This record gives sequence, structure tokens and C-alpha cells, in this order.
Amino acid sequence: MDGLMDFLAHVPWWVWILIFLLIVALRDIFFQKAHTISHNFPVIGHLRYWLESIGPEMRQYFVANNREELPFNRIERGWIYASAKKENNYEGFGTDRDIYSHQHIFVKNAMIGYQTPKNHVNRTDPYFLPCAKVIGGFNQRKKPYRPASIINVSAMSFGSLSAKAIASMNKGVDKSQAYHNTGEGGLSPYHKQGGDVIFHFGTGYFGVRSREGTFSMEKMKILVDENPCIKAIEIKLSQGAKPGKGGVLPGAKISPEIAKIRGVEVGKDVLSPATHKAFNSIPELVELIESIADETGLPVGIKGAIGKLDQWEELADLMQKSGKGPDFITVDGGEGGTGAAPPSFADHVSLPWVYGFSSVYKIFKDRKLTERIVFIGSGKLGFPAKAAMAFAMGVDCINVAREAMMSIGCIQAQVCHTNRCPAGVATQSKWLQNGINVPLKSDRLAQYFKTFRKEFLEITHAAGYEHPSQFTMNDIQVNVDDDYLSSDLESVYGYQKTTVPFDSMQALHDCIYLGGRKVSEKTS
Ligand SMILES: Cc1cc2nc3c(=O)[nH]c(=O)nc-3n(C[C@H](O)[C@H](O)[C@H](O)COP(=O)(O)O)c2cc1C
Repeated sequence: MDGLMDFLAHVPWWVWILIFLLIVALRDIFFQKAHTISHNFPVIGHLRYWLESIGPEMRQYFVANNREELPFNRIERGWIYASAKKENNYEGFGTDRDIYSHQHIFVKNAMIGYQTPKNHVNRTDPYFLPCAKVIGGFNQRKKPYRPASIINVSAMSFGSLSAKAIASMNKGVDKSQAYHNTGEGGLSPYHKQGGDVIFHFGTGYFGVRSREGTFSMEKMKILVDENPCIKAIEIKLSQGAKPGKGGVLPGAKISPEIAKIRGVEVGKDVLSPATHKAFNSIPELVELIESIADETGLPVGIKGAIGKLDQWEELADLMQKSGKGPDFITVDGGEGGTGAAPPSFADHVSLPWVYGFSSVYKIFKDRKLTERIVFIGSGKLGFPAKAAMAFAMGVDCINVAREAMMSIGCIQAQVCHTNRCPAGVATQSKWLQNGINVPLKSDRLAQYFKTFRKEFLEITHAAGYEHPSQFTMNDIQVNVDDDYLSSDLESVYGYQKTTVPFDSMQALHDCIYLGGRKVSEKTS
């Protein structure tokens, strides 16, 4: 035995390496059957798989230029990171964008901009920018709601995001007077950290689900009664990244905590069908909206990605005839994000935001319904100039999902579907999410929202307005083609938005339905 140990100890290190490589080569050629490249090029074939696996990081860190990456390029991500940290978010030496490129947006500045008068509310609070409309005002719901921030957290469930990410976002919206949309996974304890909440449900009815997997009004009433943080309810028809795609939540992912929040059984696969069981037609949808609003007293809206328009027309016709219908409509763009979707859906199903929103808005405008509805937009709108365009087109608020994720540390690794999110944001791994410091990250989200609102107000003032709801289609130009390169939004999309009744910021500030906490109650 001693002799053998002595012999092994004298084998040079490079011989061990050769032996190891020989074993790998034998495995590649004779034992593994899955990879042709490894079989045909033993040992060195592995280099190809390794290089391929680190390719995205190499491109992101070293190769891609500042404006090249998608969904969000380095400049966009950098702006969110710096804004969230209250660092210098300016750029030097002028724009690095090709401002003659297709779809480039221009906000038309006034010759002399809007000057806030002496006692204006924005002099004391440069971040105060609430929604100009009250959700549920027209339909006289018992508890109308005016969002105290025009930028808010879009639907993302506990399950797709980690507990710590959800808690950071909810504390963050509380600090910045915004609201937090629960996403499809039900109302978790992490959504109840003080911020206003929009309760969202889809075809799985998680959180408001009967034993048979259908919608339970009883559970909805109890949920709303027990949780005064819920200010409105959103019925999800579809989302931009995967409209009409159902899903299965594997039993292995259903922990006792998730089962309790979602109202499902531990360890058993749960199906989210592609379509709703609670309604099957536009009249049935309107009936459901009205009954939820009657039973809970809350405003009720719908969220959809836009493709065909016939059913949107049917909805608008019915609203006109009956005087009933959703209090708000969230229009999601085909460029929207998701925790997981097949590329064929994410890349191709549903229209990009500008085309989808303009088509739907026109339908409601033609029937003189726009004053009744609060329009919410989502789809990479979390940048002040993009938001100016969206407001000019008719939105009253914007929702942001991935921008909110980035503000709390997401690095756009694009692995949300693998449970291996390195930033701990889109994972259920306890280890990975333990790196998230909730008080710090909630400050970051709040600061991103505040910086966004401040910069958006500055753009609004430069355009000569007090509030972004005053933007019209003629205030924004977009590059469309070569012979007449740039056109205003009215000529590009063929409508003018309805004027939003806006009196003054002070009137919004004094509104009894204003969400969040009043400016005077704020701690930061
Ligand atoms: C991780 C993740 C989870 C999401 N979950 C939902 C969801 O439960 N319901 C829904 O309607 N949209 C969901 N979305 C879509 C977003 O709410 C939003 O509509 C979309 O990402 C566009 O906004 P963005 O461009 O600011 O990310 C999710 C998006 C992400 C990134």
C-alpha cells in the first residue's frame, strides 16, 4: 500500500491532467450520446459549449455598444440605476443617439416654458405628480381612487418575483406614493408593506379561487374587506409578452406558503387556462366587472394586449349603450416583459404599444368614452420622454415592470424562467434573494419613481404645461420615413386625444380620493 501511495505521489502533475483529459475523451467518444460535437471533437468540443454559455455576458460587458442591447440598452439601464441611487444620471457631450433614425421621438418645447408660480405645490414637492383622472369617478364607485403617482409598479406576482423583491417594491411604492399591482399570483404578505395595491387576477383566479378553480366572489369580498390597501381590481385578459397563452404551475414549485396565498393545493400541478371561465363574451365580462364593483365598492379595470379590434369595438358599443363598463383599461405592448414565455409568443403575438394603444384609444374616442376611462400604458414606458409620448397619445398613468426590477438591482441577465436570477429578484432561491437588502432596495425604487416624476415634470414645463395630461398629439413628433422625415403624432396615428379636464396641481393635491399619503404626511 505504502509503495502505491509513494508511486502516486511521484506522478508529475501534468500526467494527472493528461489522464483526466483521456477520461473525458473516452467519455465523449464512447459513452455520451447527446452531443455530436463532443463525439466528433473530443475534449476541445467542450470549449464550444462553454463559450456559448458565457457569450451573453461577454457581449453585454465588452462587445455591445451603449445603444445596442434589447430589451433595455446600457444607457437606459444606466439611467435607471443612477436615478434609483440618486447619483448623477446626466450624460456629457450631447446625445449619442441617431436622432434622424426611424421612430425617434421629439418633444416640442415651448418658446417660454411653464413657470411654477410662487406657492405652487411643486415648489415644495418637486416629485408631486398624481394622475389627472379619478379611477371609478364616472361610474360612481363607492371608493374611487386617484393614483398619487403617474408611474407605478406593473403586475408581477410573488412566485415570478422573490419575496424580498416584492417587499422592496411595496415599501418603495409606499415611500413614493405610488401603487403596486399584485400580478396573477394573489395578494402575498410581501405586498402588504404599506403601499397602495391594485389586486390583479387572471385565468387561474389565484387568491380568489374556488375549490373547482373558478372565480369566487365570496373570496374576493373577504379579500377586499380584510385588506384596505387594495384600491382597485384589475382583470387580466392578456399581457403583451404572451397573449392567450395559458400555463402550468408545477406542483414542485407549490410550497405551503404559495399554496396558501394562491388558494391551491400543496405539491399539485395547477393549470392557468388560456381563457377565462368566469366569462365568455363581452356582455359577460361587463357583467362581471359591474358585479365585482358592486360587491366590493372598488373601481374595476381590465388589462389587455392588443391584436384584433372587433371585440374592443363591441365593448365600447356596449359601454356607450349601457353606461357601464371598466373604470380603467391597461394597454400592454407586445414588447412587454414576462417571467417566462415561448419566443414565438414574445416576439410575434400582439402589437407593439404605439400601434395597439392608438388603435384602442381611437375606438373609445370615436364613441366619446375616453373621459369615463383611466388609460394606463405599459411596455418600456419608464423613461420620461417615452412617457411624454404616451401621455400625448392619451394615457393617464404608466405601469413599469422591468424598469422597477432594475431599480432594485436586476441586471437584465434574462434568466427569470430558470429560477437562477443572479440578483435575487426573479427567483425563489433563498440563497440568491438573501442578497437583497429590503430597506435599501425600497429606497431605490422610491428614488427611481421620484426622479422619473421630477424629470417628467421638467419636460412638461419645458413644453409649456403644468401637468403631462395637457400634452396633445401635436406636441410630439416621431420620425416616420425619409421624404418627410418627422411628423406629429396626430398625423402618424390619425387622431387627436380628448382633452383631459385638468384644473391645477393644487386641485389634485386637495382631492379626497388621492392615494398614497398626502404630501403633508410624508416622511421623505
Ligand atoms: C417577471 C415578470 C412577471 C410578470 N407577471 C405578470 C402578471 O402576473 N400579469 C400580467 O398581466 N403581466 C405580468 N407581467 C407583465 C408586466 O406587468 C408588464 O405589463 C410588461 O412587462 C410591460 O412593462 P415593462 O416594459 O415596464 O416591463 C410580468 C412581467 C415580468 C417582467
